[in-house]
Amino acid sequence: MQKRKLGNSGLEVSSIGLGCMGMSYGYGPASDKNEMISLIHAAIDRGVNFFDTAEVYGPYVNEELVGEALAPFKGMVVIATKFGIQMVKGKQMLDSKPETIRKSVEGSLKRLRVDTIDLYYQHRVDPNIPIEEVAGVVQDLIREGKVRHWGLSEAGVETIRRAHVVQPLTAIQSEYSMMWRRPEEELLPTLEELGIGFVPFSPLGKGFLTGTIDKNVKFVSSDFRSIVPRFKRENLEANQVLVELIKRIAAKKKVTPAQIALAWVLAQKTWIIPIPGTRKLERLEENLGAVDVELTTEELTDLNDALSKIEISGDRYPEGSDFAKRTGK
Ligand SMILES: NC(=O)c1ccc[n+]([C@@H]2O[C@H](COP(=O)([O-])OP(=O)(O)OC[C@H]3O[C@@H](n4cnc5c(N)ncnc54)[C@H](OP(=O)(O)O)[C@@H]3O)[C@@H](O)[C@H]2O)c1
Repeated sequence: MQKRKLGNSGLEVSSIGLGCMGMSYGYGPASDKNEMISLIHAAIDRGVNFFDTAEVYGPYVNEELVGEALAPFKGMVVIATKFGIQMVKGKQMLDSKPETIRKSVEGSLKRLRVDTIDLYYQHRVDPNIPIEEVAGVVQDLIREGKVRHWGLSEAGVETIRRAHVVQPLTAIQSEYSMMWRRPEEELLPTLEELGIGFVPFSPLGKGFLTGTIDKNVKFVSSDFRSIVPRFKRENLEANQVLVELIKRIAAKKKVTPAQIALAWVLAQKTWIIPIPGTRKLERLEENLGAVDVELTTEELTDLNDALSKIEISGDRYPEGSDFAKRTGK
């Protein structure tokens, strides 16, 4: 497996990481824990050393799963987790108060069975706590040896700049894929300027870009996609034009649509490390195969040309929802 560096930080990880969220949260009922531990081990066998989780996934059970699976590989893997979203009476609440972060870090260290968190992201920017204060707390945690690197998720560029002055950021994690290219406008140029790595989440468009989801799909209520506008029947239908494009290119290059979706993300910058999520070994192998799919400059230009003519239907979060309000802050 090839490696990539997260910006100027020196943190080197496999070119594709593994998003572990869906193993216990967000995409329907949790999968069998032992099967998921085997899957994580299979990822390690295939050269993956970068694993993504968060305190709020479950909450807690996803970190516990990742901690148990990776316990035998201490020091050989890079574990990223996130703070800043608390569950209060079944509802997600932003909370990056210093005392909450301190409590979170202790819980995550315990569940992940490590002495230091390799990469600790603020999951969403808390509008009530200045980012400088958050950066200061993380700086203390780094000095105490509890955290090695830090990052932000779905933060706007002004917040990123302010945070980076206090404590240099290693990575930003935000949604990015062939169906969500907003980061190209401001975010990617800012990260390039500051030497910060980028970790795109949902690089497969939450599964849509793989060509396996059609308009007749029914999501259970514990599957986040059941409330996402993009996954409404009419939008799924309208957006098939994108899937058709990806399928055409995949057929031409004798690879799969998922591999084209990931190869496209990888081709944008050398400091981008996508973290596709899956619960299935054959899909894990398929996704990792994307590192060997080379898109020539000409192919990329043609592809981007075609992409720019496709208008994506449906938002990535329900309009006016807390999910939508928390991004880009
Ligand atoms: N920072 C944040 O706010 C945030 C938000 C969302 C996600 N994340 C992180 O990013 C990771 C990845 O994002 P994501 O899981 O939302 O989206 P994704 O990686 O774009 O897509 C995952 C979905 O695609 C399916 N899939 C994966 N590989 C496939 C393949 N080769 N063929 C067909 N279907 C395939 C998976 O189903 P199966 O599992 O059934 O294979 C799953 O439903 C998460 O695990 C999480 O760690 C972070």
